[in-house]
Amino acid sequence: MNNHLQSILAIIQQDENLPAEQKNAISNALKDANKEIEILAFKLDRTEKVKRTTAILLEETIEELEQKRKAIEETNSALTKSLEELKAAQAQLIQAEKMASLGELTAGIAHEIQNPLNFVNNFSEVSKELLDEMKTELDLGNTVDAKELADDVIQNLEKIAHHGKRADAIVKGMLQHSRSSSAEKEPTDINALVDEYLRLCYHGLRAKESSFNATLKTDYDKNIGLINIIPQDIGRVILNLITNAFYAVNEKYKRCQAEPAYRTGRPVEAALKYEPTVSVSTKKVGDKIMISVKDNGNGIPESIKEKIFQPFFTTKPTGQGTGLGLSLSYDIIKAHSGEIEVNTKEGEESEFVIQLPV
Ligand SMILES: Nc1ncnc2c1ncn2[C@@H]1O[C@H](COP(=O)(O)OP(=O)(O)O)[C@@H](O)[C@H]1O
Ligand SMILES: [Mg+2]
Repeated sequence: MNNHLQSILAIIQQDENLPAEQKNAISNALKDANKEIEILAFKLDRTEKVKRTTAILLEETIEELEQKRKAIEETNSALTKSLEELKAAQAQLIQAEKMASLGELTAGIAHEIQNPLNFVNNFSEVSKELLDEMKTELDLGNTVDAKELADDVIQNLEKIAHHGKRADAIVKGMLQHSRSSSAEKEPTDINALVDEYLRLCYHGLRAKESSFNATLKTDYDKNIGLINIIPQDIGRVILNLITNAFYAVNEKYKRCQAEPAYRTGRPVEAALKYEPTVSVSTKKVGDKIMISVKDNGNGIPESIKEKIFQPFFTTKPTGQGTGLGLSLSYDIIKAHSGEIEVNTKEGEESEFVIQLPV
């Protein structure tokens, strides 16, 4: 029993004046009070224990949260690092694709430069002969004839300069194509750009595979004028679409030649009749420019149509395709606030249409 209650009980027991009945009543009351005190003490003790456990739990939770925060922070910086690495890798891929497409272009560029070079060589040869003649005429005192010859030489030199500039422009274009710095938008003759790449591609392919031939159809809208684009970037998109188109018709052509299935029954007709054709057109519709690159190759199966714009998706053998052309094209067109879409009939044709805002 509680000490204080014990003392009170002792005092009461010793009091001789107090009747036994009252002593009993007080003693019972004290015992009850003691019980209640014991219960309260027990409850207090329990609350105390709960409090302590809660404090410990709270501490543990705080520690756990702190650990989680640290983990998140680490994940975050790891993510930032991966993102940076991804960006660097992407830049490298873009450069790789540029170099790969430059490879596609080399044969075409060589062919394109050969023409002006031939002119320059021939005209300088002829001019030399004309100057020799002029000297003879001057010796004879025929100044009129000599002047005429001089005029011819001047004309020839103008032609030489013209073709020299043309070769210069081709080389500059090629260098621009491989430059890695991001370029600015500039007013561009889209028809000239498309036509340039079409010819480079065609001659490039012809130089590599002399058996290959294709009909080129072009339809350029003369009302387009100049449009504001990054010419190297849009040039790369067009180059890729045209390269893909030539690849598709060439594949179909080779299959028509080689596959026995094409040699029996009706397909023979089809094989003989197959005329590889690539059509390129531009058109101004309202405030949009549409550029279409169409081929009558094998088309794109429905099952892979969704995938062709994904990076690294390619159906070409290793070494022939990077699978990056269309994915980069998509990015470039998006960066120009445009659209690129494909219409295709399996086994028959594909058409890629670019829409650019004016
Ligand atoms: N004109 C086309 N005709 C048929 N299939 C095409 C055509 N253009 C693209 N494709 C398909 O899309 C795939 C991805 O093209 P692209 O991104 O340019 O990469 P790559 O040319 O390196 O394969 C090609 O491998 C091919 O399967
Ligand atoms: Mg491609």
